[in-house]
Amino acid sequence: MNIRHWVRPEVWNMAGYLPGEQPDAGRPFIKLNTNENPFPPPLPVLEAIAAADPAQLRLYPEPSSRPVREAAAAAYGLEAGQVVVGNGSDDLLTILLRTFVAAGECVAVPEPTYSLYHSLAQLQGGTFVGVPWERDWQLPLQALLAHRPKMVLLARPNAPTGHVIPVSVVAALCQQSPGVVVLDEAYVDFAADNGLALLAEHPNLIIIRTFSKSMALAGMRIGLSFSSVAIAEQMHKVRDSYNVNRLSQLAAVAALQHLASYQPLLQTIRDERQRLTVALRQRGFQVPESQANFVLAQVPAGGWGGQAWLAALREAGILVRYFGQDPALVNHLRITIGRPEEMAQLVEQIDRLLAMQSSSTPAP
Ligand SMILES: Cc1ncc(COP(=O)(O)O)c(C=O)c1O
Repeated sequence: MNIRHWVRPEVWNMAGYLPGEQPDAGRPFIKLNTNENPFPPPLPVLEAIAAADPAQLRLYPEPSSRPVREAAAAAYGLEAGQVVVGNGSDDLLTILLRTFVAAGECVAVPEPTYSLYHSLAQLQGGTFVGVPWERDWQLPLQALLAHRPKMVLLARPNAPTGHVIPVSVVAALCQQSPGVVVLDEAYVDFAADNGLALLAEHPNLIIIRTFSKSMALAGMRIGLSFSSVAIAEQMHKVRDSYNVNRLSQLAAVAALQHLASYQPLLQTIRDERQRLTVALRQRGFQVPESQANFVLAQVPAGGWGGQAWLAALREAGILVRYFGQDPALVNHLRITIGRPEEMAQLVEQIDRLLAMQSSSTPAP
């Protein structure tokens, strides 16, 4: 029996999103491949998780994550009704696609970007349109709008490039879009500014955030969306009834109540990003300015290709990400910013591998 007859064509025909490698515990990799935070969450957040009562786990969590919505509203100057909480921001992306995109409707994105957008649009039976970024990573605004998209998805800072477009361009996109605009601010805490102020003026804007990067809680799976109350109400109808577990809700509230304790850790990551950008450029890599917790580095011309660099760094115990299946990203490595000592080891290994290449040692 061929199961193909049972599976929806949208599912059968899609490749499926491939997450970055999570190596077995105990293997001593320097892990720079999935943009996690290299530091643990601040003490008050760890204490809140440790203080959880395990006996309470027999009970379902608060269905709409109300304590988290209230803490987020207080932290970001919103109403709790404007906030939807997700099991990671990927959950919110799924909810958004299911809320807004019917089969055949257009989802437009500038590319390259977070490739899950494509998978989710396919899953929904939407028509996915990827429009290349313009020169110097400018938004192809008119080319996106020419498709009359039901939804535009825009990561700011973008992944995997790390660049940002001006907030005024996001405003123009909202103004001119016939459908909704999803502004994915997964990396915004590492950036100089954000789009929060746009919410008041643009009823078609939805902003999503994650606790997986700046908040050092990727393992807890927590994301937030900010929108009008009317849009949030529709999203609540679509999400799983209990989409965020008890422990994650506790952790999220604690993180939101202690945002200030994250600041030193975020500053260290920004400083290391700057240092690594300079070090890579000095060694012949091309690195656009990043406002995220990673950099995209095009490997030096005339040496090994991206795949060989990926393999050689892995052999040296360092995991980075390579998206070579995307022609725009061939020979580019995406490198998450780690702790200062991890960055020093990375640069040391890069120097060793560059020396191997100049002595014509074959690529791994
Ligand atoms: C742009 C972007 N959005 C969303 C996510 C998903 O984050 P979460 O862990 O909250 O599902 C990622 C994760 O890599 C990302 O890069």
